[in-house]
Amino acid sequence: MNPLVLLDDSLASTATALASEYGFKVTTNLPEDEDFYLCLDLDGLSLKQGDQPRTSVRVDFTAGTNAHRLKFGGGLGQDIAKAIGITGAYKPSVVDATAGLGRDAFVLASLGCTVSAQERHPVVAALLADGLERAKQDPDTYLITQRIQLKFGASQDLLTPISDPALQPDVVYLDPMFAHEGKQQAQVKKEMQAFRNLIGQDIDADELLAKAIAHARCRVVVKRARKAEPMANQKPSFSLIGKANRFDVYAKAKVAPLTN
Ligand SMILES: C[S@@+](CC[C@H](N)C(=O)[O-])C[C@H]1O[C@@H](n2cnc3c(N)ncnc32)[C@H](O)[C@@H]1O
Repeated sequence: MNPLVLLDDSLASTATALASEYGFKVTTNLPEDEDFYLCLDLDGLSLKQGDQPRTSVRVDFTAGTNAHRLKFGGGLGQDIAKAIGITGAYKPSVVDATAGLGRDAFVLASLGCTVSAQERHPVVAALLADGLERAKQDPDTYLITQRIQLKFGASQDLLTPISDPALQPDVVYLDPMFAHEGKQQAQVKKEMQAFRNLIGQDIDADELLAKAIAHARCRVVVKRARKAEPMANQKPSFSLIGKANRFDVYAKAKVAPLTN
C-alpha cells in the first residue's frame, strides 16, 4: 500500500478521502527508506522519493511546461491534433486510455475535445485528480477541466465493445510507457525519471490495441517512440512522424459527426 504523508493537519479529511478512493495508507511520518511516497501539503499532492528529497512530481496545468504548451503548442497544427483528427469544424470525443499525468489529455481538451482520461496506477490517478482540481480553481483553465473526466481503472476492463455508434467515442488514444534508450533517456528530466521508475514499462500495452479498435467509432491513435515497432506489430493506416515521437493512426471511419 502506498504511503500518503500528511504534512498539514488542516488537510486530514482530504487525505482520508484520497486514502479510501485510491487505497493509500495515511501517515504523518516521512519514510526512512528510498521508496516512493505521496506528500499532501497546502500546495497539493506530490510524489517524492525517500533518498531524493528535492525531486518531486506534481501535476500543474496552470504553470510550467503545461501552461507553455497551452500558449505556444501550435494549436491545430501540432501532430497530436492532426493525428486525432481535430478540425476547426469538429472536435472529436476522445478516450485517453493511458492518461498518465494528463498532459496530452489537457492539450486535447484545450483544443475543444471532450476527454475521458483513464489511469490505472493509484498514485498517478491521484496526482492527476489533484492537478485537475487545482486547474478548476483557475479561471484560465477552468473551462478546459470541464471537458476532462478522470476514470480510475484499467483500460483492459474499461474499453468494452459498444454496439450503439452514438455511444462510442470518436477516438481512442494510447500512449503506454516504453523503454527510453541512449540520448532520449539522458534527456528525460529527473522528475520524469522518478515517474518512469514508479510506473515501469507497460508490458501489457499490446493487449489494448484490439480493444481500442473495437471501442472507437472513427480511429485509434497510438503514440510511439519515433523508430519503435508498431503496437502489437500491427501496421497502422498512416503515421505522423515528429522529432522524437510518432503517431500511428488506425482508421475506421472519417472523423466527423455521426449521421443517421
Ligand atoms: C507514458 S504515460 C502517459 C502519458 C500521458 N499521455 C501524458 O501526456 O501525460 C502511460 C500511463 O498509462 C498508464 N497505463 C498503462 N496501461 C494502462 C491501462 N491498461 N489502463 C490504464 N492506464 C494505463 C500508466 O500507468 C501510465 O501512467
